[in-house]
Amino acid sequence: MSMYTQHRARALEVLAGEQAAAVLFTHSLKTRNHDCDYRFRPESTFWHQSGFAEPDSVLVLLPGSSPERAAEEGSDQTAAPRSVLFLRPKDREKETWTGRRLGVEAAPEVLGVDEAVDIGELWTRLPELLKGRERIVYRFGEDADRDRRMGGVARALRALARGGVEPPVEWIDPAPLFHELRLFKSEAELVLMRRAAELTAEAHKRAMAATAPGVNEAEIDALIEYTFRRAGSTGCAYTNIVAGGAGACILHYVENDAPLLDGDLLLVDAGAEWDYYACDVTRTWPVNGTFNDEQRALYEVVLAAEENAIDVVAPGVAFSAVHEAALTVLVQGLLDLGLLSGSIDEALADETYKRFFMHKTSHWLGLDVHDCGAYTIAGEMRPLEPGMVFTVEPGLYVASDDESVEERWRGIGIRIEDDVLVTEQGSEVLTAAIPKTPAAVEAAVSGQLAAARS
Ligand code: GLY
Ligand code: MN
Ligand code: MN
Repeated sequence: MSMYTQHRARALEVLAGEQAAAVLFTHSLKTRNHDCDYRFRPESTFWHQSGFAEPDSVLVLLPGSSPERAAEEGSDQTAAPRSVLFLRPKDREKETWTGRRLGVEAAPEVLGVDEAVDIGELWTRLPELLKGRERIVYRFGEDADRDRRMGGVARALRALARGGVEPPVEWIDPAPLFHELRLFKSEAELVLMRRAAELTAEAHKRAMAATAPGVNEAEIDALIEYTFRRAGSTGCAYTNIVAGGAGACILHYVENDAPLLDGDLLLVDAGAEWDYYACDVTRTWPVNGTFNDEQRALYEVVLAAEENAIDVVAPGVAFSAVHEAALTVLVQGLLDLGLLSGSIDEALADETYKRFFMHKTSHWLGLDVHDCGAYTIAGEMRPLEPGMVFTVEPGLYVASDDESVEERWRGIGIRIEDDVLVTEQGSEVLTAAIPKTPAAVEAAVSGQLAAARS
């Protein structure tokens, strides 16, 4: 049974417990510019449930009825759970222009779905498939035309009430059911995430070795993507951030087109995607292979914060404790270096550190880089559990125009980011193979400088 068939089987069990059917859409192609589309990437929950990466497809999941449920409904018939995939039909001419299609006939065998139907029949078949279901999982708000047509399905189902078929009483979001399933990674999913981490390690090491004054950020960006794609990755998990010097103080800098300067740092936030599972890693290293005193001092604070945060990861620990563990080390470091004044309690209460550390430390990681899954349960930060994967990514960013600090600190941006799996025993850093100590990153950069000189 494929991983995706297992995901579907589990979802159908959960849906049965909730007396809900589900309608999951993937994306359509999006225009980039005239006659050109962006490279297709499936919607993550749809991919998690189908393993199918063609646009314009919809998966309908119809749980079976248990003997107890059938008895409640006054029936002695138990229905088997069913999955129905709507997809584009084979079309010789269209395939000649825009690429191969799996097609309706082959889909059940290849994907393990129970039934496959031409996507052109979606809106006429949906009322019949959803007939008699109390609750329907569907995400409103993604596409206005789709929502309007789903409204038509709701009306069609209500019209059946006159014939004695009860219409749905609730339309529910995928978050509580499907996003919770995605939050906990199976061993099979972790194989894919480990592969993404392995490739990300290779790319970061190559990027460090290729760094030197005069090299352009674009070359490093391209080298990273090349390293991912040549190995069969589905690409970059998100747009690479390759930020030399003060560019690193722009959290989502993606221009990636400036020359690297002697004496600056280079911040690279780049992760591979493997079968659409993301890795998310940041390393920061000196362009000329040696940290100066200020860069090293700030780097050591960020590194100590990151290690302190990773050390607290274990089942039962609140998600927010990871951020707090990083934050206290960052703030103490800023006080020790004279970038903040007062006591640690004052700095934490007044949030004066936000000038230098304005983001949180962690987010879930999986099929989406900022993955789904609730962070709180009943208003409280949820405790960590085995199988969850998230990032730990403290940083310090001193704006180049920050006149509240001595000039020597200005324009330094540093982030260190790893991906951490919660295990029964504590944690495992999936991205541990990537150089991180000052000595290790200096060696990784300088190896190339030495080679270039020889
Ligand atoms: N690469 C995006 C992030 O670190 O959250
Ligand atoms: Mn990142
Ligand atoms: Mn991140």
